[in-house]
Amino acid sequence: MIGRLNHVAIAVPDLEAAAAQYRDTLGAEVGAPQDEPDHGVTVVFITLPNTKVELLYPLGENSPIAGFLEKNPSGGIHHMCYEVEDIRAAAAKLTASGARVLGDGEPKIGAHGKPVLFLHPKDFTGTLIELEEV
Ligand code: CO
Repeated sequence: MIGRLNHVAIAVPDLEAAAAQYRDTLGAEVGAPQDEPDHGVTVVFITLPNTKVELLYPLGENSPIAGFLEKNPSGGIHHMCYEVEDIRAAAAKLTASGARVLGDGEPKIGAHGKPVLFLHPKDFTGTLIELEEV
C-alpha cells in the first residue's frame, strides 16, 4: 500500500542553524523557510536525490511540535512520511486493522498542498507516520 518515502521530518530548536548545517556542512539543496500557520510550524525543505528532509520549527502558540522539543531539546526525528495513491482507502484499511488515525480522521491539506493523515506512533513501533496522497 505505501509507496515512496516522501520525507523525513526533523524537529529542530534552531531553524537557521539546522538549515545552515544541511546547506554548508552536508552540502544539500536547502529551501527558504515557509510558515505553515495551519500546522503551527515553520518548515525548511531539503531536497535530496531520492527523498526530502523537512526541518520543523514551532510557529505560534500551541504548536504541535513544542512539546516534542521540550522532551527532545536538541531536536530529533519527528515523523516519516510515506506516499499513498488513495488516502481515504488507506485510512479505511488501517482503521479496520485497528490502527488509530490522529485527529478527526479526515485528511488535511499538508505542507505540499496534498492531503495528509497522521497515524498514532504507538500503533507503528513508536514512529509517527504521515501518509500523503500523491
Ligand atoms: Co511531514
